[in-house]
Amino acid sequence: MSLMFSSPVVTPTIGSFTFSSRRSNYIVMSAVRSNSASTCPVLTKFQKDCATPTPYLRNVANAIADDMRAGLAVEGGGDLDMILTYVDALPSGNEEGLFYALDLGGTNFRVRSVQLGGKKKRVVATESEQISIPQKLMIGTREELFGFIASKLASFVAKEKPGRFRLEEGRKREIGFTFSFPVKQTSIDSGTLIKWTKGFKVSGMEGKNVVACLNEAMEAHGLDMRVSALVNDGVGTLAGARYSDEDVMIGVILGTGTNACYVEQKHAIPKLQSKSSSGTTIINTEWGGFSKVLPQTIFDQEMDAKSPNRGEHLYEKMISGMYLGEIVRRVLLQMCETSDLFGQFVPVKLSTPFELRTEHLCKMQEDTTDDLQTVGSVLYNILEVEANLKERRRVVEVCDTVVKRGGRLAGAGIVAILEKIEEETKRMGSGKRTVVAMDGALYEKYPQYRQYMQDALVELLGDKLSHIAIKHTKDVSGLGAALLAATNSIY
Ligand code: BGC
Repeated sequence: MSLMFSSPVVTPTIGSFTFSSRRSNYIVMSAVRSNSASTCPVLTKFQKDCATPTPYLRNVANAIADDMRAGLAVEGGGDLDMILTYVDALPSGNEEGLFYALDLGGTNFRVRSVQLGGKKKRVVATESEQISIPQKLMIGTREELFGFIASKLASFVAKEKPGRFRLEEGRKREIGFTFSFPVKQTSIDSGTLIKWTKGFKVSGMEGKNVVACLNEAMEAHGLDMRVSALVNDGVGTLAGARYSDEDVMIGVILGTGTNACYVEQKHAIPKLQSKSSSGTTIINTEWGGFSKVLPQTIFDQEMDAKSPNRGEHLYEKMISGMYLGEIVRRVLLQMCETSDLFGQFVPVKLSTPFELRTEHLCKMQEDTTDDLQTVGSVLYNILEVEANLKERRRVVEVCDTVVKRGGRLAGAGIVAILEKIEEETKRMGSGKRTVVAMDGALYEKYPQYRQYMQDALVELLGDKLSHIAIKHTKDVSGLGAALLAATNSIY
């Protein structure tokens, strides 16, 4: 049931909104503000369920490390896929020539050209273009998605300035293809999609070689290019960051989705069926799939139940940018339905999945005004509700609870990987620095999230943290993919 009305608490300039009644047998002519007591049972319970005190975080870190070991032992041994990436050699700085990066993994895809000039000249020229992927292509067919990508790639290459970029004679244009979904790699330049994440559900792809899909589309568009490396965005970040800092051992993505990739010793990978057990290789953990000892609430369960990848990527659904806003919306909705918030009516927008996004939470948490003006206007503009000061404060508390849990859990994941690396290499013990390269909009743009993540690192690592650097390496995954295309060039 939906009603149009003007709320008495709304100032005349604000006008009226569409609301739906909380109870279907409720005939409402005007808004009545809630007289609820100052305690808020839904919020209190939610805060309790989301709590991650240090001993709890320690358990999470240990459980992630256990699942890492299990996944390294046998395929499917644990929640984490621990994918072999076939990237044994990270960029050295000697790479030369013209290479391309194609990055598909979220709402945008990016094309980049990089002219590499070797040790001395490094990146001589680079050009990139970001194109947003129409929503319908994320749930359309393989042909539509890859056809779109190939057409954009073709127009990017057509615009190339010959003076700045130079392809050596006899060479094809080579691509590092960053495909940021779980892929079972079969070689450095091939791999099959295991499953979609982050709201993608393109038909005809699961179990298919993603490089073959791209090749097919490029051929149809008359593009004579070759994929020399298929990489995850975590691997790209690690490779791109390593180009300028040889202590980088981990690449972490905290954006729409989340993941971590790291340098592992081959002797610590029982499932690696290669003769050589010396040296290192990059492992794509796909840590988003972790599901044990997580502080899952009813809101997480309900959101998961409605997701296209139900039961999967539960850690990702608690810590990454795609989901934080939606969890908050679900909590607010229940607070509203139980009369703890926003008077007697359920705003229509509050009932709309994914209407509240993580960037809105961030905006609200940055509000330092006494009367939480920004919170008020976000709630007004996005959810079409008029919130009084007490309600605004509660909304901020919900945001903070979700963001704190997310940031702290992400921190526990990083600790698990750092400790695994230390177990194998004793780097920190020997005074070596270990660098974690971080990327993704959530990490970049949400200071409170970053702070909570940092708190978890401090609590779990203590003094050891002095050997660790957490470095924001913005947008290096494209450079990393182009560098890996160079490392794996067939010419
Ligand atoms: C995917 C990963 C990816 C991450 C960040 C997750 O949903 O499973 O492969 O690295 O998002 O983009």
